[in-house]
Amino acid sequence: MKKLLFLTIAFALFISCGQQEKESDMDRFVGDLMSQMTVQEKIGQLNLITPGGGIPTGSVVSTDVEAKIKEGNVGGIFGVSGPQKVRQAQQLAIEESRLGIPMIFGSDVIHGYKTTFPIPLGISASWDMELIEKTARIAAQEATADGIFWNFSPMVDIARDPRWGRVAEGAGEDPFLGSLVAKAMVRGYQQDDLAHENTMMATVKHMALYGASEAGRDYNTVDMSRNRMFNDYMPPYKAAVDAGAGCVMSSFNDVNGIPASGNRWLLTDLLRDQWGFDGFVVSDYTSVNEMIAHGMGDLQAVSALSLKAGLDMDMVGEGFLTTLEKSLEEGKVTEAEIDLACRRILEAKYKLGLLDDPYRYFDETRPEKEILTAENRQAARDVAARSFVLLKNNNQVLPLKKSGTVALVGPLADSQNNMLGTWAPTGEHHLAVKVIDGVKIVVGDEVEILYAKGANIVDDPEYAEKINVFGPKVEIDERSPEEMIREALAVSARADVIVAVVGEASEMSGESANRTNLQLPENQKKLVRALAKTEKPLVLVMMSGRPLALVEENELANAILQVWHPGVEAGNAIADVLFGNYNPSGKLTMTFPRNVGQIPIYYAHRNTGRPQEGDTFEKFKTNYLDSPNSPLFPFGYGLSYTKFEYSEITLSKTTISADETLEARVTLTNTGDYDGEEVVQLYIRDVVTSITRPVKELKGFQKIFLKAGESKEVSFTLSEEDLKFYNYDLEFVAEPGEFIVFIGTSSDEVKETRFVLE
Ligand code: NOJ
Repeated sequence: MKKLLFLTIAFALFISCGQQEKESDMDRFVGDLMSQMTVQEKIGQLNLITPGGGIPTGSVVSTDVEAKIKEGNVGGIFGVSGPQKVRQAQQLAIEESRLGIPMIFGSDVIHGYKTTFPIPLGISASWDMELIEKTARIAAQEATADGIFWNFSPMVDIARDPRWGRVAEGAGEDPFLGSLVAKAMVRGYQQDDLAHENTMMATVKHMALYGASEAGRDYNTVDMSRNRMFNDYMPPYKAAVDAGAGCVMSSFNDVNGIPASGNRWLLTDLLRDQWGFDGFVVSDYTSVNEMIAHGMGDLQAVSALSLKAGLDMDMVGEGFLTTLEKSLEEGKVTEAEIDLACRRILEAKYKLGLLDDPYRYFDETRPEKEILTAENRQAARDVAARSFVLLKNNNQVLPLKKSGTVALVGPLADSQNNMLGTWAPTGEHHLAVKVIDGVKIVVGDEVEILYAKGANIVDDPEYAEKINVFGPKVEIDERSPEEMIREALAVSARADVIVAVVGEASEMSGESANRTNLQLPENQKKLVRALAKTEKPLVLVMMSGRPLALVEENELANAILQVWHPGVEAGNAIADVLFGNYNPSGKLTMTFPRNVGQIPIYYAHRNTGRPQEGDTFEKFKTNYLDSPNSPLFPFGYGLSYTKFEYSEITLSKTTISADETLEARVTLTNTGDYDGEEVVQLYIRDVVTSITRPVKELKGFQKIFLKAGESKEVSFTLSEEDLKFYNYDLEFVAEPGEFIVFIGTSSDEVKETRFVLE
């Protein structure tokens, strides 16, 4: 029977030509296959398991894996890698299940496979779409070499609450930028051929609004107006779907009262009927079962609800596997509904080329040739350097001279386990370059380097235990905090400059790593205070998976370089930037608040009827008694070792009609002493609108390289399309009237002018 099956496919593929014909070949093939399947075998295709090799992100891992595969009860697996192992598992399905239907093999390849890039929030700070696509391309090349061809990435959840640990995994707060990043990543993973042996199917996640979980607490409730949803939160999911993402993952949270995994409006009306998504939807880890706790019924009820909502594959929970047949008998679901889900999964397998050759991704010669190549590591080093954001640089302390003595202190200066960052389950910590080693590699011959740990990442063993669930990230020193600080001061006394590498352990952000206090842990604050008292130049290398509240550090330090968690080449990239081999060009993609009380804080807020201009308190205006409104560092902000100046904006016309375009131009000049790159940002504001609109919205940007002294005209084209938004009736329209256009170096430092849309 199996032979017959594959002969039919081979024949079908042979005679196919043209997209339409390919589709009807696929329809025919999948239809034939399904006609041979029992209901239980169809339900088996909807089951995704993990034997527990990766990071189990819930309390359940799958059991009896081998028996289930043989019985035809598994559609896909994640958490297994290496061509040999994956081949063995596939063999069980092909050779020992009745119909020999291949399984798909997935993984969370979030920021690189073995060549770990910076965390996604860091990568986004490069504002460089080609570079971002390249990281996804390299990740796909390496993952497929290791037998994995389905990726649970990109995570495109807009996030405006840095208490939420998973801000590390996304591209920040802005829907325009987030949409471009989503597209770039889907392109990088999938190219335009899912069946190629070095492309992998992308999964856009988490559908939807997961980044808006109340109080920044993971998995929490989301209740949001449609207006905000469509204008601010949905665009990146749609962009990824438009880019052809093969799979969508439903989120844990509820969306206006119905959990996403059982939300028919979300998964069918919007995703399929309005957006035209034609891939399959996978649940998040046991998110179907978790609808029991949401109060939606027992396992049978929530499984039926999910299937009917448009969810096709059940991750780990096995609600589908164990209850759908019963629901069918009881008339709670229809066979057509099961068929539809099964068809979508088989179609994905067809598109991946698995029904042609189920072993196409399992070439044992590939890993050695393709994974962690020198070229890939070099790319990781470049990307990391481009992800860093220079937050402060008084008196041009940076770049450091390649001479003299540097005191390198801080709990992250000699740490290897915190370089990769959160959600790097396929990366290997022992390959990461520590900061101290990177500095020695880059300037060790010219600069004397003195080291002291200075502080633990956190002092509290209970807190440390929560951070260490995936292995040791925080190791509490036997010495007292005072003794460690004394040692740091002793080495600092002998140095010309102090570089303190401080911040968060990698697992202080990520899934289930939410914080209510976004300051540096108190013991690290004490270290920074003590170092500042020496009055030596103090540079903070700030490692974190999220925006931190750095008011005090900003006052105490001469320079702050935000480096996120930089990936496998961490130390080399940090040294490259500290010593001026690369001039930093990153810009924040998420606002850095002054304090937790300001959250949610984001640049594209709307005006109230009582807006307060500036930070001086005015009674009866929108403000706080105890904090300015402005953030510490706004969206789009980031310094360079050089200086860029902007001319006023000139417009090609001041009035446009719907079918015209307009050019907005500035001249950018590098007036400093270094060559460098600047991200020139264009924002608009719609002055009078039928619904309240943001005070500023990003609509374009360009990354421009200029040699010292050089000038360049930078031009943006705007059309009616750029001015559209979802109105109260959710129609995507541009409203005639006046617009302000802003161009500048960050969301709060811009030139502006006006034009009219007729
Ligand atoms: C739970 C996470 O929310 C999701 O992003 C991830 O893909 C799955 N676990 C699988 O690891």
